[in-house]
Amino acid sequence: MCGIVGYIGSRSAQQVLLSGLAKLEYRGYDSAGVAIMDGPAALGGAIQVRKKAGKLANLSGELLAAPLTGTLGIGHTRWATHGLPNDTNAHPHATEDGRLVIIHNGIIENYLTLKEGLTARGHVFLSQTDSEVLAHLIEEKYDLVSGNLYEAVRQALGEVRGAYGIVVTHQDHREIVAARTVSPLVMGVGEGEMFLASDVPALLPYTRQMVFLHDGDMVVLSDDGFRVTDLAGNSVARTIEQIDWDAEAAEKGGYDTYMLKEIYEQPTALTNTLIGRLHDDTGEVNLDIDLDPTSFKRISIIACGTAYYAGLVGEYLIEQLARIPVEVDVASEYRYRDPLVSKDTLAIVISQSGETIDTLEALREAKRGGARTLGIINAKGSSMTRELDDTLYIHAGPEIGVASTKAYTSMVGAMLMLALWLARARGTLTQEAGKELLHAARALPRLVEEALEPARVERIKAVAEKYAHARDYLFLGRGVNAPTALEGALKLKEISYIHAEGYAAGEMKHGPIALIDASLPVVVVATESRLLEKTISNVQEVRARGGQVILLLSDGDTENAQHGEEVLYVPRAHEMVSPVVNVVALQLLSYFTASHLGKDVDKPRNLAKSVTVE
Ligand code: F6R
Repeated sequence: MCGIVGYIGSRSAQQVLLSGLAKLEYRGYDSAGVAIMDGPAALGGAIQVRKKAGKLANLSGELLAAPLTGTLGIGHTRWATHGLPNDTNAHPHATEDGRLVIIHNGIIENYLTLKEGLTARGHVFLSQTDSEVLAHLIEEKYDLVSGNLYEAVRQALGEVRGAYGIVVTHQDHREIVAARTVSPLVMGVGEGEMFLASDVPALLPYTRQMVFLHDGDMVVLSDDGFRVTDLAGNSVARTIEQIDWDAEAAEKGGYDTYMLKEIYEQPTALTNTLIGRLHDDTGEVNLDIDLDPTSFKRISIIACGTAYYAGLVGEYLIEQLARIPVEVDVASEYRYRDPLVSKDTLAIVISQSGETIDTLEALREAKRGGARTLGIINAKGSSMTRELDDTLYIHAGPEIGVASTKAYTSMVGAMLMLALWLARARGTLTQEAGKELLHAARALPRLVEEALEPARVERIKAVAEKYAHARDYLFLGRGVNAPTALEGALKLKEISYIHAEGYAAGEMKHGPIALIDASLPVVVVATESRLLEKTISNVQEVRARGGQVILLLSDGDTENAQHGEEVLYVPRAHEMVSPVVNVVALQLLSYFTASHLGKDVDKPRNLAKSVTVE
């Protein structure tokens, strides 16, 4: 996450930056900073930087007491990834001579290699961030291209691997150069002024003319306008859109609901979960976890609701790949069942909010028993993170819709990385199999993007509407996708209030089969897997009793299509990563069912986003 604002024009840059950052503070509040140019160098001006750890209020208090003058500036609100959230690590980062400043969102994967080279060539680093390498790299290029700032940024980015939204300015030029890959950037077009931000709400008070930059776009902003190119330097045409959203719609990114926005944010959320942690070239998994992966004899996963289902997928992955016994508990039960815990236990708690009281108390119970503890958490600085031995943040960004979507897929992505990390350290996975899985994991953002293609979404919507008046629903899946069925049922019941049950498909004949009649839609996750044939046998059992089968099949599986009343095709994925891809169709099925029924999707009755009561 993190938020960026940029401004060039005739207003007070300080005022534009502070008001924009206030709208973006939801993206991170570990620190905030601005760099403002007080006229170009030729006129005796200079760039002034102010940055402060903590919330934006700390910085704005200081700036209001001692304002910076100038009409060009860049600002940032940070959610720390590399380096502590202190003043030094706050953005902007300046070169030693203070003439060039940069702000960066995202993660530079090869920053250590770049830093080594730059240090050897005499650059002195002040912070522990990955971002600072960009300042030095651009400075180096700047001299080589005779002071062409755009060209310096372009050449520097050619050496960078990772995700970035970057804004740069230099004292000798009245311009801002920006670029993006993965991290979002939107440009606001005014009269005689230009704006940049990570999200629309920051710009709405100033302009409704906006340009959404695409991955791989570079832009140069000046007082009179802008120029967009690709990273190879070719001009690119981008249309200026008129944004008619009110403030509330803007916060939802133009979607009707936060839930839908968050469903569509999943490719980016997953990229942020995985980035910098899986290394294709070496097959290495670098999670920066301060625990010895070979020192546990058993793992206990503890969570609630959707996070619990992510834990069930985790159990499957860890046991399969790392061959360590895993048990998964609903947190509210764990606390009271007098669990057997020892120093050989690794307790993993999973939580979006990091505040769920049942999970927090279960974590304390595990600690009392001597377990070492690791959190898979979204919310930075939340209560759990303060009590855990270590935390693997999922970096999914804020999730506002009560029904969890992007946090779930990112949690499963994190469990996959954890399973690979444990497997590599314990030698339970061949180099080859490890690399194959690593590639499969890296493909997830792209596969989820494919799962959100308009034709697929339309099809899911039609099926949702066809069955929206069903009284009950059944969801079935096997193996690593048995939890997908459970999550599908939970999503449907919590937002549409239709009674839904999720079952391991093989278990159906032991009871739920009695429910099946012609009025019961049965969603079956039957994507490519070792158990596909067995799943199809379970489908036959449903059909023989008149159930309406909605089949989730992998793209290209025409053979099994005959077994479903309806077929929803999903992108073909490696079985071990398929829960992330498959669940997207089920999220959309619930979403369209609930909206067809006119339910308040973002705030379902009786529920709260963060459950802090027992
Ligand atoms: C369902 C949902 C809840 C949460 C559960 C745990 O869509 O959101 O089931 O998953 O309340 O919340 P966290 O992850 O914040 O601990």
